[in-house]
Amino acid sequence: MKKRDQTVLLLEKYIHLFRCPICKGEMDIREKSMLCVNQHTFDVAKKGYINLYMQSSPEQYDKELFEARHRVIAGGLYQPLHEKITTVIKSHSQNKLHILDVGSGEGSHLHEILKRIDHINPQGFGIDISKDGIMTAAKYYPEAIWSVGDLAKNPFQKSSFHVLLNILSPANYEEFDRISTKDAVVIKVVPQQNYLKEIREIISSEPSNYSNDETVNKFHEHYSKTEIHRLTYKQEIDNDLRVQLWRMTPLTWNTDYDEIKDKIDKLMEVTIDLDILIGRHAED
Ligand SMILES: C[S@@+](CC[C@H](N)C(=O)[O-])C[C@H]1O[C@@H](n2cnc3c(N)ncnc32)[C@H](O)[C@@H]1O
Ligand SMILES: [Zn+2]
Repeated sequence: MKKRDQTVLLLEKYIHLFRCPICKGEMDIREKSMLCVNQHTFDVAKKGYINLYMQSSPEQYDKELFEARHRVIAGGLYQPLHEKITTVIKSHSQNKLHILDVGSGEGSHLHEILKRIDHINPQGFGIDISKDGIMTAAKYYPEAIWSVGDLAKNPFQKSSFHVLLNILSPANYEEFDRISTKDAVVIKVVPQQNYLKEIREIISSEPSNYSNDETVNKFHEHYSKTEIHRLTYKQEIDNDLRVQLWRMTPLTWNTDYDEIKDKIDKLMEVTIDLDILIGRHAED
């Protein structure tokens, strides 16, 4: 089946969860387009995604970065993270689980999580402000519904999602509350001090003074029931992964690859150090 037809089929089933990004009206699907009660129309792209963002996407995150993230994430570097998130979702499991990855990038995290819980029949959705990210996601993972959109002005109806994932991306808790069910679980992943420290050490001689305190505190303040799990491990890396790691992270944006190529070639392992924040609102 063609990519667009597959997305249209999924949208027919889940169109009630969307709202118009222009007038907030209800949406319907007609042939190959989504349209709202006020006739604002959004065509489903041939490549199997929908663009619900009214401006041009920021250009910092580009196709090359997302392809590199795809290779690294699908290659297994974050497998322990996917296992942990899967355990949390399973403990929350219910029928008809709608999972939204907010700031999904190229979609590999969502795909890796969905494939571990497919026995509970979840439906995945991914949203990202970057068209390149969403196009890459739609290219590899047709099982989810991929939308270009702004997480601060989500094109979704209230109470649509049972699980929100927010991995290494910005958050907007007001919007998260609006689009999630009362008993939803929000899983946010933020870097800890030693995250990709080998790469940081190559690009800067200064010791890293990175702290995620502000982000973690904000999460804590918002969700009355919060758990934090720190996940730290080192993984060996091979030749191919070395260059993809370099390309996949904003950490290297201001650095010339040729100048530090020799150091990158000597990189034998990389540290993953993340906090997984799990938040819920207390039941009344
Ligand atoms: C470091 S990347 C992480 C992407 C993905 N979660 C991952 O871990 O591979 C941060 C992502 O946040 C997205 N982003 C930034 N601001 C956004 C916004 N206002 N709405 C939606 N996505 C946004 C970027 O486009 C980018 O894909
Ligand atoms: Zn509209």
